[in-house]
Amino acid sequence: METKINNNKIIKDDRNKKVEAHGGGFIKKDDYFYWFGENRLGIKKVTCYRSRDLKNWEYRNDVLTLTSPTEKHYIDTDLDLNPFDDADKKFDCGATIERPKVLYNEKTRKYVMWMHYENGRDYSCARAAVAVSDTVDGDYTYLGSFRPQNYMSRDCTLFKDEDGTAYFISAARNNADLHIYKLTDDYLNIEDTVNKIWINKYREAPALIKRGQYYILVTSGCTGWTPNQGKYGYTADLEGDWSELFDLGDETTYDTQPTYIIEIEGANTGYLYVGDRWDGEEYHNSEYKFLPLEVSVDKENVSVKLMWTEKVNIDFEAGKIY
Ligand code: DGJ
Repeated sequence: METKINNNKIIKDDRNKKVEAHGGGFIKKDDYFYWFGENRLGIKKVTCYRSRDLKNWEYRNDVLTLTSPTEKHYIDTDLDLNPFDDADKKFDCGATIERPKVLYNEKTRKYVMWMHYENGRDYSCARAAVAVSDTVDGDYTYLGSFRPQNYMSRDCTLFKDEDGTAYFISAARNNADLHIYKLTDDYLNIEDTVNKIWINKYREAPALIKRGQYYILVTSGCTGWTPNQGKYGYTADLEGDWSELFDLGDETTYDTQPTYIIEIEGANTGYLYVGDRWDGEEYHNSEYKFLPLEVSVDKENVSVKLMWTEKVNIDFEAGKIY
């Protein structure tokens, strides 16, 4: 199967509605890619779509809403998804959930979502939040928001290693540093803070992949909704030393901010960069861009290149993106 995605076309779902899944995360299950993201149309929610070819998207569910069931878990959390009554219409209703990412836990057979939580009015909470479901696109149960080991936590991502160990990575100390947290076996809590990287470098929008022996982390700078120079860095040990940062794409990362890197596994593994092209004035006009990410790794060197292309081709059998 081959797909051609036109980056200049608005992505619509099977209902002919614009896909609302900003700051998205993806997970593959059976033949489908599931896309989770921020939906701020009306009452804020996390919406899930699925696609076999990454081009035709089927709306599945608003998986996390203000009325989602909640459960008091062992972690010390705030369970409120609507901290203010919507008296002041200046603000969209409900907490702001950003950058939701989902992993499947083989041991508990549950899907676990981690995300960034703010109160809906400002960015002072700086908390992580967790939700869980028995099915990938079912109604998630909200387990609450909290600061991981009391650190501030904003832009974030999840990563599952080959042995099933999972990590939550988020911007800490007012975005100055990135923290890597190892998750507990059930993925529902932080086991420990295992690394603090790129101290004082103010990196946001993390997206992590593993190629060969290297973990490669793509990030943006910290300039609100305005695009900036993307960068990447790498390590052979998530808990050890990391490389310095190297430029990715042009000085605005082709007017995008990273949100996820989809692995296309065929004869080879191809990497599809997914970025948000934010509209800072009118959030709802923000777009998505799918771009080829060329990753080459040998014993000593890691090199990552992001290319702009209006039309991206995905050859699923070959695992090739061009
Ligand atoms: C940049 C972050 O990456 C986005 O997710 C969002 O939090 C904006 N900042 C808000 O300004």
